[in-house]
Amino acid sequence: MPTVFILNGPNLNLLGVREPATYGYDTLADVEERCLERAKALDLTIEFRQSNHEGQLVDWIQEAREAADGIILNAGAFTHTSVAIFDALSAADLPIIEVHLSNIFRREQFRHHSYVSLAARGGIFGLGPQGYELALEALANLIEIESSEAPR
Ligand code: DQA
Repeated sequence: MPTVFILNGPNLNLLGVREPATYGYDTLADVEERCLERAKALDLTIEFRQSNHEGQLVDWIQEAREAADGIILNAGAFTHTSVAIFDALSAADLPIIEVHLSNIFRREQFRHHSYVSLAARGGIFGLGPQGYELALEALANLIEIESSEAPR
């Protein structure tokens, strides 16, 4: 079964209690549960992780390069600042889907730029936890199409 790393950045451990008007009441454990169910239906294995540390996220993206078939990334605030994460994603040579719970384009100007977008195939924002499920669906498709196109 293809493996997808679902990586979450800083402050997403506080989901459910952090600014619920913006991020909703679901916890990160709730989001993981939804992803596990969706992944099962799509025949995908997932690795769902969260870190507040930029270097840890870089290490996990490097690990995914070897161990995964695709990455779903909500890099939190590092989305808008991290060249290191952009470089790691560029080196990964995997399909990457960017997810944000909130609509970053309806928010402050500094959230309108994303380093992750520069390396991602596509992105989903503003749809809350459902965005992760949609990203899994999109990745399942991409992985299937690309494995059938791979040279034998
Ligand atoms: C976020 C949006 C980011 O701008 C913010 O820093 C976050 C969460 C989202 O999921 O909406 O931490 O990535």
